[in-house]
Amino acid sequence: MAHFSDDLIEEVRSANNIVDVIGSYVSLKKKGNSYFGLCPFHNEKTGSFSVSDRKQMYYCFGCGAGGNVFTFLMEYESFNFTEAMEFLAERAGIKLPEHDMTPSDRLKNDKKERILELNKKAATYYYTLLRSPKGATGLRYFKEKRELDDETMRKFGLGYADVHSNSLYQYLKSQGADDELLKESGLCGIDEKKGGYDRFWNRVMFPIMDIRDHVIGFGGRVMGDGEPKYLNSPETIVFDKSHNLYGLNLAKHSKRPYLLLCEGYMDVISLHKAGFDCAVASLGTAFTDGHANLMKRYVKDVYITYDSDGAGVKAALRAIPILRNAGLNAKVINMKPYKDPDEFIKALSAEDYEERIRDAENGFLFEVRKCYERYDMSDPAKRTEFQNEIANMLTIFTDELERENYLTEVSRKYEIDENILRRKVNEIANKNAGKPVTEPLKDGRMISNKKEDGRLVSQRYLITALVEHPELYPQIKDIIVPTDFTEELYYKVAMMVYDGLEKGDLMPAKIISAFQSEEDHGKVASLFETTIGYLNTEEELKRALIDTLLKVKQNSIENSKSNPGDIDINKAVLKMKEDQEILVKIKNLNIKLNDNGGN
Ligand code: UTP
Ligand code: MN
Repeated sequence: MAHFSDDLIEEVRSANNIVDVIGSYVSLKKKGNSYFGLCPFHNEKTGSFSVSDRKQMYYCFGCGAGGNVFTFLMEYESFNFTEAMEFLAERAGIKLPEHDMTPSDRLKNDKKERILELNKKAATYYYTLLRSPKGATGLRYFKEKRELDDETMRKFGLGYADVHSNSLYQYLKSQGADDELLKESGLCGIDEKKGGYDRFWNRVMFPIMDIRDHVIGFGGRVMGDGEPKYLNSPETIVFDKSHNLYGLNLAKHSKRPYLLLCEGYMDVISLHKAGFDCAVASLGTAFTDGHANLMKRYVKDVYITYDSDGAGVKAALRAIPILRNAGLNAKVINMKPYKDPDEFIKALSAEDYEERIRDAENGFLFEVRKCYERYDMSDPAKRTEFQNEIANMLTIFTDELERENYLTEVSRKYEIDENILRRKVNEIANKNAGKPVTEPLKDGRMISNKKEDGRLVSQRYLITALVEHPELYPQIKDIIVPTDFTEELYYKVAMMVYDGLEKGDLMPAKIISAFQSEEDHGKVASLFETTIGYLNTEEELKRALIDTLLKVKQNSIENSKSNPGDIDINKAVLKMKEDQEILVKIKNLNIKLNDNGGN
């Protein structure tokens, strides 16, 4: 990875207001001193994702994701740090020194980049082979059997792995690749005796791209019968199946305001060829929250176009709640009497498919209909069971209007008395009402009711308080010192906070930059956004602060009591006396606050 100076990093960071950057991805509303929105990193219905203009950082009170503007892009766009720097520098019109970021520099240093580079070479190799004399069988398969044209084959980078079991290995070796990396890329295996061999051979090849057009893996299909029909790359450090969708690199540019969710590679390709350039598929794995969150970046509506057989229906029934929980609106396309979109379009036409999109069934109503089909309605007992199940299902809608709309529709369609159904739904909903995991505070921030080590919470809260009320610093700096923060990371942050307050240039986002991993960014962010309860009046706040200072100091004293045998008794007595004095000093502290606090 390229190395940028701390000053340059800080220049780029401060030239990009985090509220604007995140605001272009997440819809944010001002509440109190922060901006709030739905967290893009976990599924939620109420916004616990906060962005602070003053601290130039974000923090989710629901899932704990947090960091500065770099962290956000690294997590949201899966950029590495260099890419986040480049993106933000360009956004702010800052020129980065050229020599810091030549592609070959990065290649040398970053294993991920090296595997992506290998994958790209492999994709080019398969692509070229398909169009060479050796690829004739593959080309015939795509053109005749699958009725693809050159343009479509080019768009998807389709290729061919020939009948030899180590030709890719030989090729990549000749390009200087090393065995260890080849193995880790999932492209090749290494046999003690026989040497290197390819994972894919005698298959037509589908490169799998991420949203930034990196080749992250492959699928390979047999050309006739054979098992397995599709062989896929294993998960690697660049291929995370539950966070990537096949075809999304193209679909994200579509003008259509929705995504079509298919089961397979060929469905995606056929749909794109027929003009439905918004088709994607999960990669031979079940649909996950990760997939739904990825979709949510681009659309609100998702049309499921899975196989019309039993397995397809089952998969749709699994995907619908996942889409709904992500806040997406799911619909289901009926392709009967055809099996999948590929067959449908070949047998009928794009116009017919367009009509099926228009007629797609609301995801919830699909679930209800499938439930209905499981019961024998001529039996009053079964009918009651069905109605109870429906009442249960309706409780997932917490929005009253939304629930009412579904309730009316379902009672009409399945001839259930609307009032009785409504009573039943309310009854169940009231019974189920548990304590929420997070509760909103007056200023819109969330407080978690999760149990946690109180000593650590106090240390975190003290750092947050110092950031939000810098006027506290001169009042406490001689009483609580950075070494009183007993957790390694907290101590490091405290040092920087004290330093910033001393110099009058404290900026939380800058402190975050001093840490390397995204995980640490989140932890550091939490230190700047810790709340401890409902502190509504200034008196409450002052009392909480005294209490916090006491807890931090007491914990620090506890912690420093090392092996009693080693201690000089006179020193120990002296230290005890000093400690007692400090605690008394804290108790009698008359804290003064400016009234312009807050984050
Ligand atoms: P299907 O068998 O429905 O594939 O599997 P398909 O796309 O209709 O296949 P064609 O039309 O015969 O070529 C759906 C998807 O499940 C995954 C693949 O992603 C496939 O596209 N799959 C299927 C595998 O990963 N391995 C398999 O052996 C079969
Ligand atoms: Mn098919």
